[in-house]
Amino acid sequence: MKNLIGIEDISVEEIDELIEKAKDIMKNRDKYSEKCKGKILATLFFEPSTRTRLSFESAMLSLGGNVLGFSSADSSSVQKGETVGDTIKVVGGYSDIIAMRHPKEGAPVVAEKSTTKPIINAGDGGHNHPTQTLTDLATIAIEKGRLDNYTIGLCGDLKFGRTVHSLVTALSRYKNINYIFISPKELTIPDYIKKNVLEKNNIKYTETTDLEGSIDKLDILYMTRVQKERFFSEEEYIKLKDVYILDNEKLIKAKKDLIILHPLPRVNEIAVEVDEDPRACYFKQAEYGRFIRMALILKMLNIK
Ligand code: NCD
Repeated sequence: MKNLIGIEDISVEEIDELIEKAKDIMKNRDKYSEKCKGKILATLFFEPSTRTRLSFESAMLSLGGNVLGFSSADSSSVQKGETVGDTIKVVGGYSDIIAMRHPKEGAPVVAEKSTTKPIINAGDGGHNHPTQTLTDLATIAIEKGRLDNYTIGLCGDLKFGRTVHSLVTALSRYKNINYIFISPKELTIPDYIKKNVLEKNNIKYTETTDLEGSIDKLDILYMTRVQKERFFSEEEYIKLKDVYILDNEKLIKAKKDLIILHPLPRVNEIAVEVDEDPRACYFKQAEYGRFIRMALILKMLNIK
């Protein structure tokens, strides 16, 4: 793997290797603190982010490397009309590895053609978000002890939620996973995921609008935010934004060993009271994101 554009760029074996590395990093932080000395990570965020950008920066700093970049298109030469290709060509000369986020689907594909430096897609529009998926997989592996044999409910904005698209694509390679897609009719999982990922691999799934009626069946509940920025009308967003709100009452029927994930940021879809429930794993999940990204940077720079 030279670049990480979609989660399919990385094999199941490589994912296992990254998770093992992340676990080792968590245990032996000092061993890794100078591994990337003299290396520079560029974080080019043409679209807002808190966790992804800062966890990448924290990852590189924790490896003894340096970071540079920008956190919004407004503070870059995009404002002057520069193309993504030109920006990447230039930044490739200033750095050893590039993590980028862009509102347009496919922008990382343009980027990988513009530099010889490794490119990591940190989210492209409503399309893919492979490093969030690595974070999600690491969380499942650590908290559940396995990546196969469970029922996962994905709830919320399954249409525009890029983390959902990458996660379902990744999980389609593991055995005996039962998917329950919970969303309003307007925000169902896209047809291309159903056809090219699920049906192609003979994976069974259920679609429903009913969170409460599904909750007792789940081993993992993956909540998502309704992706306001991808809506064409404010009215439509307002209509759908609060359809699902997970609270303590809804969790009464859930399994004792359920884990609740969310890529964050949360808006209203998980009541704050749920944070105290031992099944809530979303803040831990954000923290694991730092360590799996450390493992990823090492791998992409060929550092052991
Ligand atoms: C997600 C994203 O950017 O797609 N956030 C993240 O990277 N942790 C989810 C979201 O914005 O809702």
